[in-house]
Formats: sequence, structure tokens, C-alpha cells
Amino acid sequence: MASFHTLDDLSPEGKRVLLRADLNVPVREGAITDTTRIDRVIPTICELADKGARVIVLSHFDRPKGQVVPSMSLAPVAEMLESKIQHKVHFVSDCVGSKAEEAVANLKDGEVCVLENTRFYAGEEKNDPEFTAMLARLGDVYVNDAFSAAHRAHSSTEGLARHLPAYAGRLMEAELNALSAALELPDRPVGALIGGAKISTKLDLIGNVLGKVDVLFIGGAMANTFLAAQGVSVGKSLQEAEMHETARRIMAQASDGKCEIILPIDAVIAREFREGAPSEVCDINAVPADA
Ligand code: 3PG
Repeated sequence: MASFHTLDDLSPEGKRVLLRADLNVPVREGAITDTTRIDRVIPTICELADKGARVIVLSHFDRPKGQVVPSMSLAPVAEMLESKIQHKVHFVSDCVGSKAEEAVANLKDGEVCVLENTRFYAGEEKNDPEFTAMLARLGDVYVNDAFSAAHRAHSSTEGLARHLPAYAGRLMEAELNALSAALELPDRPVGALIGGAKISTKLDLIGNVLGKVDVLFIGGAMANTFLAAQGVSVGKSLQEAEMHETARRIMAQASDGKCEIILPIDAVIAREFREGAPSEVCDINAVPADA
């Protein structure tokens, strides 16, 4: 089994715990439409706060690319979190600097504060050491409960784990245990399902999984790159033309290692790129160039 520290190894009372969550929830017209990600991190937040920690929650929200984008503020998420737990939740409109430092200094044991979107700073996605150090100043220990953001080496994910004593939150612990069970001593045959927009950001992951599973199902826009690399038309759909060679190499590697790669056999096509546009299902080999 993988070895990592969990909350069982931490005595958080009176400590400033920097908790990386994934609060990147779906929002429509300013309203949160699905609170699953908030609900899933609540056990970790409450366990820490119940034990007397000062919980400082960090998260990204959407992709503001280093700019302050008011519609990508975490304020509504903090409000939603407060409505769901018994602990006081403060919201701080910055994630580093004097405002954040002052709010953290005023935090009482058992209280929670949600800091503003880490991606409002370009340093976050660059894993910039100075930005990481500014974040690290806010905590005594670091807890990562953002499994769904853990594939990115950003300041608040990978960077902080190098600055502070690091622990997995309960959600991360459950995900890592499930992953170990599936990849280390699985009942065969074992399959993995992978999706997302880009191969380029998941090369290490794909390489790692290929050697361990019998079947790899690829979906999302990433599947388009694999299909296009084999000469299948994907119309105007998102794909990474510069990764065709890599996709072919991955397929050859899979076949040598006796891992079967399964790609979509049909596609939903539409002539317009907008919500509610008329669509139809067609064979994957019959996607028109203009769809
Ligand atoms: C997600 O929604 O997949 C995670 O929050 C990661 O978001 P990102 O793809 O913008 O890094």
C-alpha cells in the first residue's frame, strides 16, 4: 500500500491547518448547481475544526489565468459551506498578503476561513516558489484533500507539500486507498477509465496506468486526439494535433504491454457550438468535417 500521513497522524489542536480543497463547483448564472465537492470535503473540515484546528481552506475556482475575475470568486462557495456546517466560516478576499495574514491571525480554534481563489495569482499555476512561500506563511501544517486537482503541480498542491508537514485529508485518503487497491493487487482483469481535454497534461499518468491495467478506456476530448492520430475524422472537435505522434506511441506501448485501449465507437455531433444545439449520434467513422 502507498505510504502517506493521514489525519490520524496529526494533532491539529491550536494549529493553523492549510487545507487544499477542490471547491471548483459547477455554477450557472452565479448560483452553485451541484454542491458535491463541498459536501465531500466537509468531513475533513469538521474533523479538523472539531479537534480545535484553525482551518484555512485554499482552492482554485475555474481558470482565471492569474487575473482577478470577480465571477470566479470563492465567496459564494464559502457562504454555501457555512450554511452546511456548525463552525463559523469566514471568507477572505485574498489568498496571500496582509489581508490573508491578518484574517488567519484573528482566526480562533475551531473556526474556518476560506481564502480567495488561488488562481487569481499567476504564481499558483507556475508553482512559483515565492508564491508558495507566501501561502506557506499562513499555516503550520498542510492537508491536501483535493484529489481532483492533485495531478497538477501547482503552488497550493505540490508546492506546499514541500514547505510544510503534509497530510492527506479524509477524501484524499479514501481516493488513494481505492487507487492502491485497484492498481497494486487487483482482481484481474482490471480496467481504468481516463478522460479530460488533453493528453499532454496526463502523459505520466497514462504511462503509469498502462503497465498496470488490462484495459484502458479513453474518453473526453483526449479520445479525439487518439482517434485523429489514427486518421479518424473528429470534425471541429477539440483535439491536440501536436500530440498525434505521442498518441501513436502510447498505443504501440499499450499493445506491446498487452493493454487494450478502447476508444469511443460513436459520437454526438452538432453543427453549432452552443448549449441546446440540435445534435445526433453517428458512427465514429462518419463524423463530418464541419461538425
Ligand atoms: C476539475 O474540475 O477537474 C478540477 O477542479 C481541476 O480543475 P482544472 O482542470 O481547471 O485544473
